[in-house]
Amino acid sequence: MCGIVGYTGKREAYPVVLKGLKRLEYRGYDSSGIALVNASLKVYKKKGKVSELEESVIGKDTHAHTAIGHTRWATHGEPSDRNAHPHRSSGGKLAMIHNGIIENYASIKQELLKKDYEFKSDTDTEVLLNFIEDIKLHDHCSTEQALRIALKRVVGAYCILLVDEDDPETIIAARKGSPLVIGIGKGEHFLASDASPIIEYTKEVVYVNDYEIAIVKPDELVLKNLGNEKQTPFIQKLDMELAAIEKGGYEHFMLKEIYDQPDSIFDCLRGRLHANAGTITMSGVENHLPALINAHRMVMVACGTSWHAGLIAEYLFEDLCRIPVEVEYASEFRYRNPVINKGDVIIAISQSGETADTLVALENAKEKGAFIFGVVNAVGSSIARLSDAGAYTHSGPEIGVASTKAFTGQLVVLAMMAFKIGYAKGSIDNKRYMHLLTELNSIPDKVAQILKESAAAVQSVANKYKDARDFLYLGRGYNFPVALEGALKLKEISYIHAEGYPAAEMKHGPIALVDENLPVVFVATKDKYYEKIVSNIQEIKARKGKVIAVVTEGDTIISEMADDVIYVPDADEALAPLLSVIPLQLLSYYIGIAKDLDVDKPRNLAKSVTVE
Ligand code: F6R
Repeated sequence: MCGIVGYTGKREAYPVVLKGLKRLEYRGYDSSGIALVNASLKVYKKKGKVSELEESVIGKDTHAHTAIGHTRWATHGEPSDRNAHPHRSSGGKLAMIHNGIIENYASIKQELLKKDYEFKSDTDTEVLLNFIEDIKLHDHCSTEQALRIALKRVVGAYCILLVDEDDPETIIAARKGSPLVIGIGKGEHFLASDASPIIEYTKEVVYVNDYEIAIVKPDELVLKNLGNEKQTPFIQKLDMELAAIEKGGYEHFMLKEIYDQPDSIFDCLRGRLHANAGTITMSGVENHLPALINAHRMVMVACGTSWHAGLIAEYLFEDLCRIPVEVEYASEFRYRNPVINKGDVIIAISQSGETADTLVALENAKEKGAFIFGVVNAVGSSIARLSDAGAYTHSGPEIGVASTKAFTGQLVVLAMMAFKIGYAKGSIDNKRYMHLLTELNSIPDKVAQILKESAAAVQSVANKYKDARDFLYLGRGYNFPVALEGALKLKEISYIHAEGYPAAEMKHGPIALVDENLPVVFVATKDKYYEKIVSNIQEIKARKGKVIAVVTEGDTIISEMADDVIYVPDADEALAPLLSVIPLQLLSYYIGIAKDLDVDKPRNLAKSVTVE
């Protein structure tokens, strides 16, 4: 949520920062801006996407070797030129960008107003910047000292980059709760919200921790804590290739990421699943096996699509491990004073590893003594680092704002965990365990088959129903959370109202919506609920609803009843969501395209929600 980029070194800074902003645009695209420090400080900013900023800067002076840039997801203040970052201090010498929220900005603003400060924007960021400037003037201290003093007063989350016209080669950065990575080059440094703007230049990075301040010059990186004590930067090597963050010939990231899934699932299984030998290697699980086997209960904590993965995990862990599971929205869990007892295991599920609600929920749970297992995609992210143990999904960078391959990666990790724990605990026998491993091993090929054989059918369904006002998505058992995920994807990408429901629950209310204009998507693959869902389909047909059914290949019963049918290969019901979700991802994509919408950057959304 908001992307920040900084550069100081021998190159022209503007193109480096601009390109970095384009890579981070998935984090927000309400406005963008760049501050360049040369002999003087120049700030260019514009409402809208980074391309609009780029156009507005054509012909202007962009020469500088130090710059900071920002792409915004609006919190305080509407998307507009004046609320765009960077902000310039009242005295004009400082410029700052910020990702996060300063919760006590209003009281600080009151103090500054009394001192006759004037504000050009509605943002909390400008308040913090003027606060820093005010401290600097009155305490006669350096910008770095003023920042440190200001941050001690600040309540909230931030990642800040600050430049000072009087010190044109230095960027001062600070982080609490919002991510910051620093790339180390030869005589140059790169700063960004994630590694994607950096990977092209260097693979050596430092992940800045909360409550740290970085003083970054071309040849020097100094890390300090808020108490002004020097910290030793921990330099890590990035395990990521540039190709992973480019579209690779696809028209959109979302489509590329849907089509990445045979490979991303395979990467998640690689080195872990040994189907023939009957083993699953997951050191995060092995090192904590007693705690996991003997868990009194598991609590899945997540948001959005990751929460849906948590719901599927509830079926997996209860079914295969006989462990009671609760699935919590992180935003509710963090404020509810939940009961956490010894023996509870919290499973945190997050693509970005930076979602603010999930992060704070985990911090609270940790304070209460919970054991936290992270299922995270972004390596080195805050949630990964906070977890006591974990397993990465290895899905690769997900750039499209709507989550697709990260979801299937989460399901694969959670399935492997459930199989391993269930078998070690004795709640599944050898026959079932071996069957599940063989089935899991075949998933990448089956996903590839769906993409090859069903995409055209999904596209024609999309064209047929693209103008519908509402959609209903129904499923039962393991496929119920898939129905929720299908509905969420459609809302996000096509702006069509959609609801997901357990198919049997429909008759307790939503059936009132059904008429000849309502498309109802049934996720109805072959499982123990099959006969029941057939009855639910008949209930919809009896009321003239249009039925789109995702069914198992070879199905003859539902295929006869439904208006449109999409086939997926057969799979054990515990793994069915990995297949049945693929047509639903494609359906939302193709409807978005048919409506000529920006599927990679849907309105009002941002990836990595680092504000609560
Ligand atoms: C939906 C989507 C969001 C995220 C949610 C959690 O397509 O992308 O609902 O799933 O914001 O994000 P992470 O998984 O990064 O914690």
